Amino acid sequence: MSQAPVNVTVTGAAGQIGYALLFRIASGQLLGQDVPVKLRLLEIPQAVKAAEGTAMELEDGAFPLLAGTDIFDDPKQAFEGTNIALLVGARPRSKGMERGDLLEANGGIFKPQGEAINAGAADDVKVLVVGNPANTNALIARSHAPDVPADRFTAMTRLDHNRALAQLAKKLGVPVTELKKVAIWGNHSATQYPSVQHAEFGGKKIADAVDQAWLENDFIPTVAKRGAAIIEARGLSSAASAASAAIDHVYTWVNGTPAGDWTSAAVVSDGSYGVPEGLISSFPVTAKDGKYEIVQGLEIDDFSRARIDASVAELVEERDTVQKLGLI
Ligand code: NAD
Ligand code: LMR
Repeated sequence: MSQAPVNVTVTGAAGQIGYALLFRIASGQLLGQDVPVKLRLLEIPQAVKAAEGTAMELEDGAFPLLAGTDIFDDPKQAFEGTNIALLVGARPRSKGMERGDLLEANGGIFKPQGEAINAGAADDVKVLVVGNPANTNALIARSHAPDVPADRFTAMTRLDHNRALAQLAKKLGVPVTELKKVAIWGNHSATQYPSVQHAEFGGKKIADAVDQAWLENDFIPTVAKRGAAIIEARGLSSAASAASAAIDHVYTWVNGTPAGDWTSAAVVSDGSYGVPEGLISSFPVTAKDGKYEIVQGLEIDDFSRARIDASVAELVEERDTVQKLGLI
């Protein structure tokens, strides 16, 4: 190990995604097989003991790339010097909670975390918000980190992207590696728009190979409601697939997208495609030199336009709610 370890902070480390995520980070899958990592785990005080148990197991894994694990219950300490911040811990929706209550409860988590990132993270920090409502939590964190460039704050729609790839591969009878230019637009919620308008398989257009009725009645709702279907089946929300998507999101951000393809991530809008500037919305993106960039110049057909607008309207509503609550 010649290089200094990269500091990776994971919040909600004792939760289910944390348990699926930490061992993959320690094994080198987040950044690459030649990059040592140091883990900084953030939990609430009641869950620190459980995080300590996970840290014992990480130690027992004897991972060659793991340079150490520290546990914190204070965001200021957890984000000190961090290069990669994975914001997984969030307040789940409980019985009787309205959307506004959920946003407010999460404001209490993501505001101090944004402030701590602003105060102490490394200059090259990259932030991925996984905890729901991910786009708006990312917006809250970002608005409390004015000294960090806006493009360092992202939210996860890679799981939705992967779900879309899997459904299309099954329908077309091809491996996922054949599929290119699938895109998730908008919010990580049931309003999201998984689009095949520009997608290809083996050089052919996917839109010509499947019928519109299947797209509208099967593919789009299956992808958009997959999170709820997993909760229904497992009794718990997706964890290993979410952790896997978080690994994919950061690995791509750091190592780039292959030529001729893109992926999906929720990034700060620059006004592209009519998405209001500053919203954290999912777009087709490429990654190069450690930066995600929105794919520009795509023609958007009427069907796509309406779907994108509907999901973006939900993001605007969430932004307006947190604005009224004084969280941004
Ligand atoms: P979980 O309840 O198992 O774990 C969450 C952990 O976060 C708990 O250990 C809790 O103690 C911790 N936590 C709560 N507040 C915290 C704080 N202020 N600081 C640090 N830690 C804190 O939940 P999970 O299954 O691991 O899911 C985590 C989040 O990810 C949820 O919000 C879930 O809805 C979301 N999720 C997002 C996606 C996506 O695609 N974006 C997919 C799946 C799940
Ligand atoms: C998912 O997409 O699996 C999750 O965001 C679902 C959830 O509500 O936790």
